[in-house]
Amino acid sequence: MGTVESFRVVCNLSRREPNDSLDGRLRHHPCDLADAGALAAAAEAVRRDVASAPPGKLLVILNSGFGAYGRFPDIDGGKQTRLLDVNVRSVVDLTARLMGPLREREGAVLLVASTAAWQPTPWLATYGASKAFVLQWGLALREDLRGAGIGVTVLCPGPTRTDFFSAAQMGDAPPGVGMADAGAVARLGLRGVARNRAVVVPGVLNKVSSALACRLPRRWQGPVADFILKRFRNPSSNV
Ligand SMILES: NC(=O)c1ccc[n+]([C@@H]2O[C@H](COP(=O)([O-])OP(=O)(O)OC[C@H]3O[C@@H](n4cnc5c(N)ncnc54)[C@H](OP(=O)(O)O)[C@@H]3O)[C@@H](O)[C@H]2O)c1
Repeated sequence: MGTVESFRVVCNLSRREPNDSLDGRLRHHPCDLADAGALAAAAEAVRRDVASAPPGKLLVILNSGFGAYGRFPDIDGGKQTRLLDVNVRSVVDLTARLMGPLREREGAVLLVASTAAWQPTPWLATYGASKAFVLQWGLALREDLRGAGIGVTVLCPGPTRTDFFSAAQMGDAPPGVGMADAGAVARLGLRGVARNRAVVVPGVLNKVSSALACRLPRRWQGPVADFILKRFRNPSSNV
């Protein structure tokens, strides 16, 4: 079984630098992923950086993403398409642009989806669908890259204490919904990469709810998710 320390070079692309430097192995490349030109420049910077980095396996972490909470017509259309740019288009574009270094260094890609990926998500319609894309695409990519020796792991966290909820204009988690610790979730994702797992769903409750959600008849999935997700309304917003 591998360890995450065997990835000597770890690249992260987002605007904000992650808290954990992974013992100095993390190389942060700040970039607005909604901007196609900035993304292309950042991918080029990553390629140059990796070319001069110490030898060893490469891990690319694609964690950036945001949600937009509310009934679909009430959310600004530009925000919905920006969400697709960051959560979907940037993931495909960056992975394609970083194929060279990933091949050369027997790399791996860690994609961050969500438990929202397992069923339709009213109130977060575009977000949930973007994460369903990441999950399905990641699993397909894993097979496409098997022969190239590149691993793909999809992390599907449930509710986790970060800025995600406020950025999405959601309220606090309703009673009975636990919030995971972000560091613990990240560690589980990295352990999944080290073990070359296809999917990591942190926490027993998230595992059970994801497994149940996608086994419900299709016609029930939307109404059940609607019942749960409307409880995340922010009482002080007009959503
Ligand atoms: N928290 C949860 O409950 C939860 C559950 C399931 C999945 N997730 C997923 O986990 C991932 C990380 O989110 P988080 O929970 O850590 O929320 P967060 O604290 O809001 O962090 C989101 C990250 O994405 C970055 N980002 C957003 N828009 C960007 C853009 N245009 N260009 C570059 N970076 C951008 C943010 O940078 P800035 O800070 O500079 O904006 C930040 O680094 C996301 O993909 C999210 O969908 C979160």
